[in-house]
Amino acid sequence: MRRIIITIDGHSSTGKSTVAKQLAAELGYIYVDSGAMYRSVTLYTKENGLMVDHVLDKDGLLQALPEIKINFQWENGVNKTLLNHRDVSELIRSMEISEAVSKVATLPEVRAKMVDIQRSFGAKGGVVMDGRDIGSVVFPMAELKIFMTASAQVRAQRRHAELLASGQQVSFDAVLDNLQSRDTVDSQRSVSPLIVPEGAIVIDNSEMNSHDQFNMILQLAKDRIYGRV
Ligand code: DC
Repeated sequence: MRRIIITIDGHSSTGKSTVAKQLAAELGYIYVDSGAMYRSVTLYTKENGLMVDHVLDKDGLLQALPEIKINFQWENGVNKTLLNHRDVSELIRSMEISEAVSKVATLPEVRAKMVDIQRSFGAKGGVVMDGRDIGSVVFPMAELKIFMTASAQVRAQRRHAELLASGQQVSFDAVLDNLQSRDTVDSQRSVSPLIVPEGAIVIDNSEMNSHDQFNMILQLAKDRIYGRV
């Protein structure tokens, strides 16, 4: 049976990672959260004095880039993000990192390094990867490309609920603001902007439940795995 590459791009907080994880588990594929990689680099800058008061020391980061090792560990269905061999899965989800990550993700040198790592994960197929440029830049030849979107209000509600559930006290407006500014930066940056990749299937899930969405994408994947498309 052929092991395909599935890319899931789209706006922030559209549930890309949830569906990507479920899909990978169902198909026995690996799941790669490319956003976690940009978040990890951002955490590195914060922890190493390369981002102070929202100002990024770009030269310092570029110099440190070879020292930054990012990996994933898949264990009992849990996907851990490792920054220089340390589990940073929780730390990279904070609002502080969300607010700073766009500065790091716009640097072409950082993107080039992340893209190399991402391609190495997909070298043998059998991968589901989510992000912003996976279908357009990382794997333009992927067998199945999905682009997910939803209204900003719906996305902010979902993200706000997640943050509250994890014990982070933030206002709905702060979440909505952060999400809209990330949308703008992601879509307008000159390197690898967020676009609908050529050949991608667009899913607006503002009013779709996650069960129906999962079944729909699984069917699309099976059609390609079994050569029906
Ligand atoms: O998917 P996420 O929200 O965890 O991603 C965090 C940030 O990283 C997001 O604001 C945009 C950036 N990103 C990117 O530029 N390219 C990717 N392939 C994935 C994420």
